[in-house]
Parts: sequence; C-alpha cells; structure tokens
Amino acid sequence: QVQCLNGHDHFMHKEIHEQPAILSDLNGHDDQWCQMMAQMPDAMVKAQHISVVACGTSYYAGMTARSWFEKYAGISISVEFASEFRYRAGAIRPGRAGLFISQSGETADTLAGLRHFNNHGCPTIAVVNVPTSAMAREAEMAVPTRAGSEIGVASTKAFTAQLATLLRLAIELGSRNGTLDTKNYRRIRREMEEMPNLVREVLSNEHIIKSVTSLLGDCTSTLFVGRGDCYPLALEGALKLKEISYIHAEGFAAGELKHGPIALIDENMPVFVLAPDTPLLVKTSSNAREIAARNGKLFVLTDDDEAAGFKGEKGVEFIKMPPCTEDQIPFVYVTALQLISYHAALDRSADVDRPRNLAKSVTVE
Ligand code: G6P
Repeated sequence: QVQCLNGHDHFMHKEIHEQPAILSDLNGHDDQWCQMMAQMPDAMVKAQHISVVACGTSYYAGMTARSWFEKYAGISISVEFASEFRYRAGAIRPGRAGLFISQSGETADTLAGLRHFNNHGCPTIAVVNVPTSAMAREAEMAVPTRAGSEIGVASTKAFTAQLATLLRLAIELGSRNGTLDTKNYRRIRREMEEMPNLVREVLSNEHIIKSVTSLLGDCTSTLFVGRGDCYPLALEGALKLKEISYIHAEGFAAGELKHGPIALIDENMPVFVLAPDTPLLVKTSSNAREIAARNGKLFVLTDDDEAAGFKGEKGVEFIKMPPCTEDQIPFVYVTALQLISYHAALDRSADVDRPRNLAKSVTVE
C-alpha cells in the first residue's frame, strides 16, 4: 500500500492532523458496538478487576483510561507494563480479565501477556489498530481502534484512537453492568461528539505552539508535570519528546515533585505544566509556583491563564488550550504535546518519522 504525505512534510505531522477525522469516525459504528457488547463474554462484564497490559504509548493510553473504567464501569483497574507483567507469578487470579492495548497487535511482550491470560482461562479483550494482527486473532474479543495505518514511529493518531475506543468501551460496559445511567451515557457521547472540533482548535494554533517550542533553545533536559488525567499525559508528552527530539524528558505527577524531582529544577530546566481548569488546578498551580520560585522555566498549557495563577508574569510561557470537560482533556492536551515534540524535533533537524534506535513494532522481547 502506497502512503502519501498529502502535502505534509512528515507522516507524523499528517497523522497528528488526521486525528479530528478519526475521532469523528469513531463516534459512529453504533451497530458494531451493539454487536460487540452482545457478544461480550459474561465473565468480562462481571469482572471485578481488569489488568490492562501494554507497552510504550499504548501503556499510557491504558493509564489514561483507568479512571474511565473506574468511574463509569465500577471496575477496578491495574495498568501493567507487559514486559514486567508477563513474568509476575500470581498476577492472574480468578475473577480477573485482561485488556491488551496495542497499535500493531504484534508487540512481543503484550502478546505474551495475552497468551498467559488465555492459558489461565480468564477473559481477554485486545484493543488493536491492526485487525488482522496476532492479538486480534488470539484474544477472546478484538475491539478495533480504526486509526488507519500509522507510519510515523512515534505513535500519535493511534493513541487518540485508543483513548476514544477505551472511553467508549468503559461507558458501554458501565451501561451494560448498570453502573452508568442513560443520562450520563448520553452526556459522555455528546462530549465525544465535540472532541473533533476541540482537537481542530488545537491544530489551528500550531503556529503558536511552534513559536513557544522554539524557546526551548538548546536545553538538554525537560520535565512534564500534571495531576489526575494529566499525569499519564505528562508521561506521554515526555516520551514523545525524547523519542523524536532526543531531548531528555521526564513526566511526573505534580504532587510528587517535592518528593525528589524538584531538586533538579534550575534556570536551565524547562517544565511543561498541564494545567486545565479542573478542581485540581489550584494544586497544580501551587506546584508550578514552587518550580518558578526555583527559577525553572515554565511552559503552562491551560485554558485559563488567570486561574493557573501566572497571568502576565514575566518569563512564563502560555500555550492557550480550548476549555473542555474532564473527559475531553486527554484528547485536547495530547494533541498540543504531540505538536511540541514534533516542532522541537524539527528545530534539532531530527528524523521525525524514523527516530534512531526505535522500531515501529517491537517483536523481540
Ligand atoms: C514501539 C513503538 C511505540 C509503541 C510501542 C508499543 O516502541 O515505537 O510507538 O507505543 O512499540 O507498540 P504497540 O504496537 O504494542 O502499541
């Protein structure tokens, strides 16, 4: 299959810009969802605990989705690195189900985790982008993420498609097991309908994100911090930046800063703060204050710079985000993070689509 850039300079850029269309498409397929839910093994619907198993960016999709399964389906969740999980004796118990997330559906460690679960006779679901993949074939049920083939090694559109699919799965499970009422189900579906336009809004601000990113200069290390759903996004933002720009980056839960990482802060340390206007904002901005007090260079992603507490302050860079609901935050903020890493990599003349030492699909253990 010949892949075209369609006027974009790189596949990664093209794939970032495909996200609104993918999210729109994922809002449909109601008949398939009806069918899938009708075929869903009872043991999965009644599972008391789901182990989510994945690697890399897919792992961060699982971490982001954890709160959706907890609050909408009432299921307790653990999110596991496949490369660790598969060797943990006793990790699989009766009453547990396995959810495997993978763009390729071929990642060796995730596949091994899936086989491990199958061997124990526990229900398995694979959320995969390649419908003919080994995981799609071997799981009891395969849920497609429908992002189309992803060429850029650093995953972008597959991640947002995973998120949308996982959110949908959480609310379908929740309405089937009686945790989620119709009113809230409809509200979430409405919010999902709004997501493509919110992501478009971020994409339309790409020039601003590009110019703010250029202020990173020749820094060698960066931090990403966030709370709640923004914590896994901070991890994903840091992963993306190091993957393609080779700038060292770490993601932290904002509340953990004072337990160690804050020792790293000085005037040479740019810190990206994910600060959407949620009830947690007051806490996140107080963490950001501590960074500023130690001369860290702040890059604040927020829809409300006043509430984030730094309006008009010298040396603080804002990346203005559209206001969104709690469940929309991951889709909107990760798009900005993808653009930050893309432009930081370009500023360093890195090979964005084929970063050194990385493979698109890791089929060795
Ligand atoms: C590789 C890729 C990553 C990807 C990870 C997991 O490391 O470079 O972008 O997130 O594998 O891949 P999967 O296909 O299982 O999602």
